[in-house]
Amino acid sequence: MINELPQKQLVADSFGRAAAHYDDVALLQRQTADELLERLDLVKIKPKRIVDLGVGTGRNLDLLSKRYPEAQLIAVDIATGMLKQAKQTYREQQGLKRWLPTNNKPYYLAGDAENLPLADNSVDFVFANLTLQWCDPRASFAEIQRVLKADGLVMFSTLGPDTLYELRRSWAQVDDYPHVNMFYDMHDVGEAMTEAALTGMVLDADHYILTYSTAMALMKDLKVLGARNVNRGRRRGLTGKEALEKVQQAYEAFRQDNVLPATYEVVFGHAWGGKKAQTMSEDGSINIPISQIIRK
Ligand SMILES: C[S@@+](CC[C@H](N)C(=O)[O-])C[C@H]1O[C@@H](n2cnc3c(N)ncnc32)[C@H](O)[C@@H]1O
Repeated sequence: MINELPQKQLVADSFGRAAAHYDDVALLQRQTADELLERLDLVKIKPKRIVDLGVGTGRNLDLLSKRYPEAQLIAVDIATGMLKQAKQTYREQQGLKRWLPTNNKPYYLAGDAENLPLADNSVDFVFANLTLQWCDPRASFAEIQRVLKADGLVMFSTLGPDTLYELRRSWAQVDDYPHVNMFYDMHDVGEAMTEAALTGMVLDADHYILTYSTAMALMKDLKVLGARNVNRGRRRGLTGKEALEKVQQAYEAFRQDNVLPATYEVVFGHAWGGKKAQTMSEDGSINIPISQIIRK
């Protein structure tokens, strides 16, 4: 497990500031959300209460409400700026429909995935698209398990350690500071889910490659997304022009077909609430059946 925990205030401030322009560049986030929503076709659930955890700008609230019109949606995010944006997005997407008596308006809650402002056994479905990479997996899956009903479902996507490896390697040629966040391995995620006593766990990973004309364009997009470097050992203060030029030069080694790739390892998973099914063995290790972990 990685010892570096994201620093919550930095994350909240950074995403809060990003809320207005996030959607302009959230291409990967839309793709992984659509993948999660498609996977829901294969699961028969009739949720009464759904939490969109780390709702961001709220793009998925409308899609969830169309899929489950009878459900009460609860949008949770650590960044109040994001919640404000999510409320506005939902209003625009629903238009006049939001005034229908049958329309369940979402609740918007400022809260931390590691300490959810929700009662035990109160939620039927937790949807978390690209949120949990900002959280400690043990704490957040324990919380998800606490709030989920026994037959409740959690479905999520998160980022794995190959994410932005080109940028990480390019920076490594410039200085010794960590410039790219560290991400948990799929096995760490599985272990945290098992410890949280989630059941019927399924995990798989896929690589997505976005392309950029320059490394600067990638770094700008990360800034617009609010995805800032929260490593505790990060270099403080502004990054110098010279360092930025050097990292851009180093990134050129990855250029192919006239574009620069930015790899994202996306881990998808789902599991059910309920009693502990897999127990720890005497040496403290947890056995996850190989059939439950798929790497594409
Ligand atoms: C990459 S965005 C994804 C947003 C949205 N789920 C989507 O699909 O576009 C990550 C979101 O998680 C939120 N977040 C980060 N850490 C969080 C935490 N500990 N608890 C709740 N939300 C968190 C951020 O504020 C941000 O809105």
